[in-house]
Amino acid sequence: MSRITIAIDGYSSCGKSTLAKALALKLQYSFIDTGAMYRAVTLYLLEHQLIDDEGNMDEKAVINSLSNIHLSFVYNDNLKFSETFLNGENVEKKIRDLRVSNLVSKVSAIKEVRTKMVLLQQKMGKEKGVVLDGRDIGTSVFPDAELKLFMNADEKIRIQRRLDEYTSKGQYITEDEVRKNISKRDYEDTHRKESPLIKADDAIILDNSDLDKQQQLDYVLRLINDLQLLK
Ligand code: DC
Repeated sequence: MSRITIAIDGYSSCGKSTLAKALALKLQYSFIDTGAMYRAVTLYLLEHQLIDDEGNMDEKAVINSLSNIHLSFVYNDNLKFSETFLNGENVEKKIRDLRVSNLVSKVSAIKEVRTKMVLLQQKMGKEKGVVLDGRDIGTSVFPDAELKLFMNADEKIRIQRRLDEYTSKGQYITEDEVRKNISKRDYEDTHRKESPLIKADDAIILDNSDLDKQQQLDYVLRLINDLQLLK
């Protein structure tokens, strides 16, 4: 059976990674969380005082520091997905922090940051049999992906899902903080100059407001079957 590339793009907190992980597990594909990569770069900049919480940074110093950032992914058999490592440290938890979430869109708008991440993503996905989720996968990282999805969900539902995620990890964040973060990121991600979030012409829209995880997985598997993508 042939192996394909599945590109999942869409707005913040609409379940892209959840669906991508489920698909990867079902198809025995690898999963690349490209947002985690931009988050890890942001964490590095914060930890090295190259950006402050207001987003002030010396862009030249940031660009110069990129050669010191080494990202890797290690499969966790218990969690059934790969965790993100920054210079050898497992940062999977740290990169989900609201502090990182509030700065990541600004960092990901830097051209040199994107160039480095996109090259890495293309290298990791070149053998196919891969599901990637992000903002520019179908438009710029893998424009030839056999299946492209563009995800969205009702704003209220996205906020609730993100709140549930924080609560399940024992982190307490207000609804207002989550709302502000989501709308700020969506604005910045869709308005930046370098490969902004935009639906690829050939992407299939998936609004999952009224679909649970299993229904979303079933829908995409049906799509793959109907389109005969795995002939
Ligand atoms: O998927 P996420 O919410 O973890 O992504 C965090 C941020 O990283 C997102 O707001 C924009 C940026 N990003 C990007 O610019 N391009 C990608 N392919 C993935 C994420």
